[in-house]
Amino acid sequence: MSNQLDTIAPLREFVIGMTNLVSQETEQAHLISKGSELLKTLIQSDDWLPEFCTVPHPEFYQQYLLHADPLGRFSVVSFVWGPGQKTPIHDHCIWGLIGMLRGMEKGQRYQQLPSGELVTDGSETILRQGEIEAVGPTIGDIHVVSNAISDKTSISIHVYGANIGAVKRHTYDPLTGQPKQFVSGYSSKQVPNLWDRSAEVRASLT
Ligand SMILES: [Fe+2]
Repeated sequence: MSNQLDTIAPLREFVIGMTNLVSQETEQAHLISKGSELLKTLIQSDDWLPEFCTVPHPEFYQQYLLHADPLGRFSVVSFVWGPGQKTPIHDHCIWGLIGMLRGMEKGQRYQQLPSGELVTDGSETILRQGEIEAVGPTIGDIHVVSNAISDKTSISIHVYGANIGAVKRHTYDPLTGQPKQFVSGYSSKQVPNLWDRSAEVRASLT
């Protein structure tokens, strides 16, 4: 349980839940539906996100790794959007979940025609605090995302079915649909310390 001495507990509980899930399930539809429930619980509160994972960059949206499964079955990332920041059109090549923690995101999905041309898939959507969206090769994997708030930072928590910072994926030329390989990496060399459980053990000392 979360308390003042163990503010990171909700993230640790989420990581434990996801680790159990990827150990029991391999089917993408189940990973997405059950992972969404876990992510919904995580983003109900936002006091657990360490300060260094909330810092925007003046030019680029930031991707702070919160946790990577040692077996590469999932990763958790804090996406921090400064005002006006936007991704290129890109894909993920793996399932992913986006949960809105603070602020709002705008998203537009695309489909690639056999000719290679990109066409919009549905209209632009807004993701609000507490809401979840899923992406992936079987459910629509190409999109562009931006901060929907022009004068504030927005933060979303993403979960992917791989160590996403090291996945070879693509950006797309909006005019020609031409894909270009990229690897996103992460914005920080640090990850939050989930594993200092001394407070709860000390509290049980007799
Ligand atoms: Fe994306």
